[in-house]
Amino acid sequence: MKFPSTIHLMFGLLCSPILAVAANDLNFNPQNYATQSVDVDGQVIKYRAYEHIVYVRNPVDAQYQQMNIYIPEVYFQGGNINGFTAQTAPIFLPNSIGGYMPTEPITATPSDRGPNAGKTSTIAYALAHGYVVASPGARGRSLKDTNGQYTGKAPAAIVDLKAAVRYLRFNDSVMLGDARKIISNGTSAGGAMSALLGASGNSADYIPYLKALGAANARDDIFAVSAYCPITNLENADAAYEWQFNGVNAYKKMLMGNMIDFHMERKEISGTLTTDEIKTSDALKKQFPAYLNSLKLKDARGTLLTLDNNGDGSFKNYVSAQIQVSAQKALNQGADLSTYSWLSIQNGQVGTIDLNQYAHGVSRMKTPPAFDALDMSSGENDLFGTTNIPAQHFTAYAQANDNSHTTNKQADAHIVKLMNPMNYVGKPNVKTAQHWRIRVGTNDRDTALAVSAMLSLKLKNTGKSVDYSLPWGVPHSGDYDLDELFAWMDNLTKKTLSN
Ligand code: DHB
Repeated sequence: MKFPSTIHLMFGLLCSPILAVAANDLNFNPQNYATQSVDVDGQVIKYRAYEHIVYVRNPVDAQYQQMNIYIPEVYFQGGNINGFTAQTAPIFLPNSIGGYMPTEPITATPSDRGPNAGKTSTIAYALAHGYVVASPGARGRSLKDTNGQYTGKAPAAIVDLKAAVRYLRFNDSVMLGDARKIISNGTSAGGAMSALLGASGNSADYIPYLKALGAANARDDIFAVSAYCPITNLENADAAYEWQFNGVNAYKKMLMGNMIDFHMERKEISGTLTTDEIKTSDALKKQFPAYLNSLKLKDARGTLLTLDNNGDGSFKNYVSAQIQVSAQKALNQGADLSTYSWLSIQNGQVGTIDLNQYAHGVSRMKTPPAFDALDMSSGENDLFGTTNIPAQHFTAYAQANDNSHTTNKQADAHIVKLMNPMNYVGKPNVKTAQHWRIRVGTNDRDTALAVSAMLSLKLKNTGKSVDYSLPWGVPHSGDYDLDELFAWMDNLTKKTLSN
């Protein structure tokens, strides 16, 4: 709640006669709430619930292009929580996107399914810690309109999240909380979207889409990003996956297509790669060093991280070292690591980790290509469809080796670009978030560890502050360390504002 700008006020005045009759006037109405409460560790947290706010003027699908906003009641009585006030409370923006599917806004009520069933919800936790919460829905890849046209293919989800941020910034003067301190959170596909939102602040690339939706006339850069196991950098993720898993021929594969959703129970089928799949793995693995080397990433000492033609080199050592740090931390905390054949421990010290042995240890989950399936059966193929094409390729390799027996083509390169945060970090005329927390468990096989390592390094190399680690033994999941997440967020937001 800061600086009601003249532009903002003028915009409101100019538009008000039209907006008075429109369904979505984009003006937040502080009076339009229901009082709700939630129990957090025996403490009753009362809050005002502003639900089902459609955040664009011309929604394509209002069921998804809406958000819920929750504000602790204490702030309306002039009180403070956790050192925050009505003016200074940061805005926590958790998206619940999974599998690149459509997502409705979530509430503070504990989930009734999945690993967090019955536990304090992330939103309730945030309210108890004094955060204003804005929970956005977003369109996703399976969505269709009444004419059977697809309405949620890429880049719909990121455009929607940006529109939600613009709504919050546009309404900053009338809504409690500080829209200069928006912190995004998400897991898996939602982690990818959280990262992309933070990477691509104010990029002109998304403006035509935002204009078409009638998004609020405001900035869309955010303060900080939390991303759990982001399934991102999709056009390079196949090569990265084979760089990590080449030689691991047994797999435990998850059922794909619309089943992909980290919230759902994951059904796995076991198998062994065919001769053709092994050839594909070899070919994709070979592609990875050229891509990695093109990034010119550096470690904290300024040493260039590279890979040779075999995929060995300082970048591989860097990734191994991240796993080693994680194992050491677990060991120090008393975990029994003696069952891990790929770990050596001497005198309480975890030895250097061989990434190939690690890959065999955790085992492969996806068959090559892991993301751009040759038969176009993956969720990501589906993501890159168009209004009338269900699925497309997004890598040259899969396009050249297609066996889908369809006439479907390669996705538009510009749309593929719009979905990858690596294209926006530190670019001119883009405001990338300054603060990042990225977590990927060491048992996560949904994408290669290289994907998050490359994103973290690129962010660090462009001057961003990045807290990156690989929690020991954690599978593909998110929000499992809320105490640590909120300690990180508290620390950032209580420091003097840097922007
Ligand atoms: C998700 C998981 C995947 O393995 C994937 O390829 C895409 C999305 C998810 O859980 O969101």
